[in-house]
Amino acid sequence: MEREAPTTRAAWERSCARIESALREAGAAAAEDLPKLEEVRVRFLGRKGELTELLKSLKDLSIEDRRALGPKAQGLKASFEAAVGARRAALEDASDAASLETDALDLTLPAVRAPRGRLHPLTTTLHEIARIFQLMGYSWAEGPFVEDERHNFTALNIPEDHPARDSHDTFYLQDLPLLLRTHTSTVQIRALESSRPPLRVVCPGRVFRHEQLDATHSAVFHQVEGLVVDEGVGFADLKGHLQAFLQQLLGTSTKTRFRPSYFPFTEPSTEVDVQCFFCPGSGCPSCKHTGWIEILGAGVVNPVVLKSVGYDEKKWSGFAFGIGVERVAMLLHGVRDLRDFYTNDLRFLKQFDESLL
Ligand code: PHE
Repeated sequence: MEREAPTTRAAWERSCARIESALREAGAAAAEDLPKLEEVRVRFLGRKGELTELLKSLKDLSIEDRRALGPKAQGLKASFEAAVGARRAALEDASDAASLETDALDLTLPAVRAPRGRLHPLTTTLHEIARIFQLMGYSWAEGPFVEDERHNFTALNIPEDHPARDSHDTFYLQDLPLLLRTHTSTVQIRALESSRPPLRVVCPGRVFRHEQLDATHSAVFHQVEGLVVDEGVGFADLKGHLQAFLQQLLGTSTKTRFRPSYFPFTEPSTEVDVQCFFCPGSGCPSCKHTGWIEILGAGVVNPVVLKSVGYDEKKWSGFAFGIGVERVAMLLHGVRDLRDFYTNDLRFLKQFDESLL
């Protein structure tokens, strides 16, 4: 419906009076639902609404008339807007209240927390070990689970008739000259083959031995192998690196003990103990009453190993170490049965916070 713009004061006042009574009749306050209220609002205050047009037509009046009528028109608009606002709030409240009564879904309730996964304690322990060595300049290397005899034994100075093979309880693949690696020392050979010194790597990973499962043995477990090869590297470097690592892992006051040992691929070899931190040092079941807990094996790389991968053993030397991840995780968390790590009982796993991530 086209409406003529009122151009005289009298005509304008007539329009105003008509709209005022229309406003009263349409009664924003009486609109029974939100769509009806919107209809009323658009009718008067939409872009082409009656009240909007009336306000626009003020400009066609003389300046005195505008001064006289302007405030009335603005007042009309303000009170209409206030009435619409109040009615909208009331209708919305009523509709919220109604849906709370009828709907099953209450969006105002706090959400149920979705269960959140976390890393397994063995993974966090492995990451923590690798992280410390990475801070010391080591890079991360990985190797395959299925290996040949050369990488697992021969190149590591464990020939076929060597008694050390017996102690490894190896899983061999049927009808193939392959096996599941019994230690991560295989990656010593792979790292030496694939890059040139100087070299600093850690190789974390899973290893396999034909062991009877009990509180301290498993057929599948994890090791972190470390290898450093450079010019003039010796036992003092090995001791310095491993002491720094253990103090970073277990605390600066950690006491360490290096015992002579034997591995075919290192010479001299050592096993490293830390002072038992359950007793500490006075003897308890966890340290078998010795006051010490063995934590890793290590040694100066046997020149025979360097030679087996074609290195000049007079120029290059190095050290290697192997850390049992389960052993470290048991110590860090006071876990007494290794099997708890593998049964994936959530009551056990939920105890571990993520501070070691
Ligand atoms: N590979 C040895 C083991 O599994 C550990 C080790 C690694 C010892 C490197 C010395 C040097 O028992």
